[in-house]
Amino acid sequence: MDHVLALDHGTTSTRAMVFDATGSPVSTSQIPHAQFTPQPGWVEHDALEVWHNARHVIAEALDRAALATRDVAAVGIANQRETTVVWDRRDGRPVAPAIVWQDVRTAQQIDGIDRAVGGTEVRRRTGLQLSSYFSVTKLMWILDNVPGVREAADAGHLMFGTMDTWLLWNLTGGSVGGVHSTDVTNASRTALMDIRALRWDDDLLAALRIPRSLLPEIHPSADRFGLVRTGGPLDGVAVAALVGDQQAALYGHGITTPGQAKCTYGTGGFVMSHTGTGAVLSDSGLLPTAAFQQAGSPVTYALEGSIAVAGSLFQWLRDRLRVLDDVRDSERLAASVEDSAGIVLVPAFSGLFAPHWRPDARGAILGLTSYAGREHIVRAGLDAIAHQVADVSDAAQQDSGLRIDELSVDGGATSNALLMQIQADILGIPVRRPRMLEMTAYGAALAAGVGIGLWADRQAAPTIQDHDSWTPTRTPSWRTATRAQWADAVQRSLGWAGS
Ligand code: G3P
Repeated sequence: MDHVLALDHGTTSTRAMVFDATGSPVSTSQIPHAQFTPQPGWVEHDALEVWHNARHVIAEALDRAALATRDVAAVGIANQRETTVVWDRRDGRPVAPAIVWQDVRTAQQIDGIDRAVGGTEVRRRTGLQLSSYFSVTKLMWILDNVPGVREAADAGHLMFGTMDTWLLWNLTGGSVGGVHSTDVTNASRTALMDIRALRWDDDLLAALRIPRSLLPEIHPSADRFGLVRTGGPLDGVAVAALVGDQQAALYGHGITTPGQAKCTYGTGGFVMSHTGTGAVLSDSGLLPTAAFQQAGSPVTYALEGSIAVAGSLFQWLRDRLRVLDDVRDSERLAASVEDSAGIVLVPAFSGLFAPHWRPDARGAILGLTSYAGREHIVRAGLDAIAHQVADVSDAAQQDSGLRIDELSVDGGATSNALLMQIQADILGIPVRRPRMLEMTAYGAALAAGVGIGLWADRQAAPTIQDHDSWTPTRTPSWRTATRAQWADAVQRSLGWAGS
């Protein structure tokens, strides 16, 4: 009973990872799921496919580790956040495809919320600004647009959940007694939870005509949620953690004190800085969000800034601009030149997220000369990722008054050592990368271990000892100049979509 299984369901795939009692990974299994884009701006997932994949990877990871159910003490789930699914509690069938966090179809619902409640009031209560990013607009879209759903919801037949809730309900028996719960980190991304009281906000629910019976119970992230009951592997094992994937990575890094920060470089980039036990309302476009809660302990908060384009910039450089044959060439090519030769690339392909929140921004490549080659453009791409992270980190320090002394990093693009050096240079602080890069699964596994009592708390749980670090090599005046040039380029990209 000294292993923990993490189910890490991300935007593009679902993976199970087994860890032993020292926190070392023992086995893994991963399957991608289909991305449906039926209309411009729409992104959907098939929740049943995800559930099917989850069962498969759990069985395969156990098999690969040659472990039996009795060897596993607990299951922890980390998940892509905000993605919304509504299903019928009687047969477990989703009433519509899951609407993914990247989906921007809900402009009408945003207007509706603005009229019914007002953006300022939503922000005061939930900490979040009105945006199609959060679950509430997606849930309202399903209620407003899928035939028969409003009536079935009013009759109490339906359940709403983010993907943690969907997976938990299915794992714990589905329509035969499945547990309908979520955790504070996921609930804090719906724009329906009172960010301080950690309860669904009944005034918001009433104003937006969302039946209370749709919503799961909100729990601490590390808690005993229920026992697996699928008639397959892990039956009888406790699900002891649910945590949004970005918060799971934060927990995995061992970030539990104010001022510490992490960035996960995935398709986009997610920067989170810990702010302690108080939710900091941001004046700079960041989002206060629940960072973690262990049952019986106070909740902790973080300020988060999401960057729309990070790792996906490499795909664009390869597939659309065709200046890269292989994403893995990006480091070699960018390292073949001293700098970007004055080129600044702003990857505002569908606007800019935090801290700018400007949907009307569009991408720009500035400073081209006849000397410029593809290596300079690729180098400017690395700079752009690092500058966007620095924009969020600057805003977090301004809002919280806390100094960030070091950035912990994880995610695919961190394998690019030049990017890590550029990041340290642009931030002017060290960048620290654990040798084991699966921080999301690791965080979920540790949270589940804490939830079941394998470890008393995060301090008592394992911590990664081996890291690679990059320290700044540039002068403060270089940093000031490069940051000013970036800020100028960002200004020029704003409003382009409307011009
Ligand atoms: O807010 C969305 C985020 O949780 C998605 O993360 O790693 O699945 O792209 P990821």
